[in-house]
Amino acid sequence: MKIVAHDLIILGAGLAGLRAAIEAARVSRGELDIAIMAKTQLVRPHSVCAEGGTAAAIRPEEGDSLELHAWDTVKGSDFLADQDAVELFVRTIPQEILQLEHWGIPWARREDGRIAQRPFGGHSFPRAVFAADKTGFFEVHTLYDTLLKYPRVTRYEEYMATSLLLEEGQYRGFTAVDLKSGEFLVFRSKALIIATGGACRIYGFTTYSHTVTGDGMAIAYRAGLPLKDMEFVQFHPTGLVPSGILITEAARGEGGYLVNNLGERFMKKYAEKMMELAPRDIVSRSEMLEIEAGRGFQGPQGLDYVHLDLRHLGRHKINERLPLIREVAIKFAGLDPIERPIPVRPVAHYSMGGIHVDIEGATPVPGIWAAGEVACVSLHGANRLGTNSTAECLVWGAITGKKAAQYALKERQFLELPMEKAREEESRVMEKILNRQGDENLYTIRRELREVMDANVGVFRTGEGLAKALKRIKELQERFHRCGLKDRSRIYNTDLVSYLELENMLELAEVITAGALAREESRGGHARRDFPQRDDKNWLKHTLAYYTPSGPKLEYIPVNITIWEPTERKY
Ligand code: FUM
Repeated sequence: MKIVAHDLIILGAGLAGLRAAIEAARVSRGELDIAIMAKTQLVRPHSVCAEGGTAAAIRPEEGDSLELHAWDTVKGSDFLADQDAVELFVRTIPQEILQLEHWGIPWARREDGRIAQRPFGGHSFPRAVFAADKTGFFEVHTLYDTLLKYPRVTRYEEYMATSLLLEEGQYRGFTAVDLKSGEFLVFRSKALIIATGGACRIYGFTTYSHTVTGDGMAIAYRAGLPLKDMEFVQFHPTGLVPSGILITEAARGEGGYLVNNLGERFMKKYAEKMMELAPRDIVSRSEMLEIEAGRGFQGPQGLDYVHLDLRHLGRHKINERLPLIREVAIKFAGLDPIERPIPVRPVAHYSMGGIHVDIEGATPVPGIWAAGEVACVSLHGANRLGTNSTAECLVWGAITGKKAAQYALKERQFLELPMEKAREEESRVMEKILNRQGDENLYTIRRELREVMDANVGVFRTGEGLAKALKRIKELQERFHRCGLKDRSRIYNTDLVSYLELENMLELAEVITAGALAREESRGGHARRDFPQRDDKNWLKHTLAYYTPSGPKLEYIPVNITIWEPTERKY
């Protein structure tokens, strides 16, 4: 088995991974041999789908402040965010905005030539810095271009990690398949940063790219690292019907209306002050209530919807500020938003939970850091504000890049690899799975998993629905072991990739659902119909889920409250 060594490896090449790689290269001044690896081609991470902007308080002279950004984030999180992390975040992100500017990003400009900002949900000041409605795309390409300046960063495209190799509680390396050749390899490094993104592909109706299947979370979980607050899944209010493609919140930030079948801007009933720009958990619930009350429009495949009306914004503003949204609506819904409203409904969009890390992005396992959506630091608590995610990727990409590089610089030698574990993993993947015969079809199981999650672990949840979902997930896990692979070849074996991805998704679906069933309250994105109130007395705490062969073991840890005591959330 081929063994490849680098001082530091970054797994995942979205915004967090790219930013981490640059910082590590910068800090180590050519002393470290660094690698960045992705399941996709390197300029095709899901981060390119981030549309609306990146939040930063950069205008104190116009009334914004770090305190206000922090308060909006804490209130938006329904008080589950760790407030020390929030404070670090709001302090750091303005420098990242400037840094990207210096690296050449084409931020949108105001008339006076200064960086433009637009309003976003739950923010009490227009603080989303943006590049039209393709912010993530420009951020990724700016970071990638910058990374190319560092010759000691090796780039691995289209490799899928299958397991972490730990020994005596310490990180040693990981196993991966080169998808292009089917070669199975062991990668060893002194330090690892996991930045592989979230897990919302376990839902059918989602804004996620097909590639984002929670792989980093799942391999960490199976290796014994705890996952934190996984029950908190964000449903974005404006998924395009029927594809689920993101229609950016910037459409509402620029002035778009949400309208029911009576022509009413219904948000005035639910969030009188902030209306369409209330936080996402509130807007998504409001849409569902309208639809359930018969005030939506009938959609295909049960995807009833409300209207997002941009017509009053006019052709010029739509073309200048929302060109991607116009293109997507024309191509995927057959309508031009200049002339007709867009059909939208809540869509699975973001994992608030992730690998448990401390404020510096360090996991409990020495040598492993995690950053971006795969990690739970916890900045977003029970509900993330729009544009705080790209911002988080930049902030904790830079922090973990620096910390992991400093660690790798100090470690003189590579630790011994547990080769027996590596060989077992090779045999599991390249012999047992690849040659597996069975009467179950993995694509049927994947579809059924997504149906179960859409139906029972969505915007509104009940104990009964969650228990049913958990039972169904267990059954699907049983059936999954009877799946056969049709393709036994090695080169670009998408059957094998789909199998490994589904294994990861089934694991994470169980963690999410078990956490949601246990949490008998409503907070942020977790709305229990049978427990409609937030319950700070019993549930102002983070969930930690540990892997056991029979299912997740749940434990709880306190929320770090520095300044802001929980109060009622009103918008
Ligand atoms: O609506 C959006 O543009 C999404 C932004 C985000 O999730 O932060």
